[in-house]
Amino acid sequence: MPGLDLEDKAKVKNKLSAFVFDIDGVFIRGEKLIPGARETIQLLQKRKDPFIFLTNGGGHTEQKRVEKLGEKLGLTLDPKQFVQSHTPYYDLVPEYGDKTVLVLGAHGDQIRDLAHKYGFKKVVTSSDIMAEIPYIHPFPEMTQAHHEKYGRNNNILQTTPISAIMFWSSPRDWGLDYQIVTDLLLSSGGFIGTRSPKNGDPSLPNHGFQQDNQPKLFFCNPDFLWSTEYSAPRLAQGAFLAGLKGIWETMTGGLEGVSLQYTIVGKPTDLTYVYAEKVLRAYAAQLHPTRDVGTVYMVGDNPRSDIAGANAFASRCGYVWKSVLVETGIHVPGDVPAHEPCHIAKNVQEAVEWALRTEK
Ligand code: G3P
Ligand code: MG
Repeated sequence: MPGLDLEDKAKVKNKLSAFVFDIDGVFIRGEKLIPGARETIQLLQKRKDPFIFLTNGGGHTEQKRVEKLGEKLGLTLDPKQFVQSHTPYYDLVPEYGDKTVLVLGAHGDQIRDLAHKYGFKKVVTSSDIMAEIPYIHPFPEMTQAHHEKYGRNNNILQTTPISAIMFWSSPRDWGLDYQIVTDLLLSSGGFIGTRSPKNGDPSLPNHGFQQDNQPKLFFCNPDFLWSTEYSAPRLAQGAFLAGLKGIWETMTGGLEGVSLQYTIVGKPTDLTYVYAEKVLRAYAAQLHPTRDVGTVYMVGDNPRSDIAGANAFASRCGYVWKSVLVETGIHVPGDVPAHEPCHIAKNVQEAVEWALRTEK
């Protein structure tokens, strides 16, 4: 470390190394624990090295998710160490907490309850829309019983606009959700069943589409694929978004300059890395109130998500971020990763061992 005086050197040496871990494809695949996962967390807990989990997964509260993972690992984890794809939605509560929002994702009342727990008071699900307007979806045979069981006909849709559409996990009834989202994005003011007169107006920006108080659209997981027990990766929320863009292009007539307007959080977006850094700093300060974090090691299995995000963020944030790619999920040995990590390790245990050796 040339150029640093003795006091500076002491400060650098005293800095903590910290870890940000992806979950699917690093600690678990589907329901199965990946070898070395437990030992890795045990080691870091013993060393008191700060670490958090940063997953594009979701659908449960941070508390529930941490309990589930802790149970699998046979270890106790703190919900403060946990950032899920939709955790940044907490920041939307001041704006949308009292407005009506459409929430999409896992089945039943799971996402309704989750959104309520976050602080969104007026929540509508696609089952509610089916209960109130059964004919909105032309092909309900596969899911009718489900919507009858979970949908609530509150008779609000004629008089209440939807202010936001929020995806909390991969949609289950893709056909219905494509239909409802498209209807709302074309509506006048977020009233379902209406069409905005501004749609297609060439004198307006974006040809008038999404210019008439339609709901704002939020996604929380850009992943196109994710790793499960199945031999090949499965389609994730990013694949739904890709399909929606295609539908939107056709619905809006392929007009030049018209593009779908939406906000997206989750890895690899900057919004999520900024959020994760905030959470990591707070957690590290709780463990070691007088020491700052030096290097952050981001360990993940998806080059386009974990590695791309960490690499891009490293050049902009206050910490030094180093990305480590593991071979237990999306990335398989022999593939050339789309985004080059600082290091490739066989699994999470080897990744952490490498990082700790590097820090010596
Ligand atoms: O749907 C979850 C999946 O896309 C990725 O989860 O933990 O690998 O970020 P994770
Ligand atoms: Mg992963």
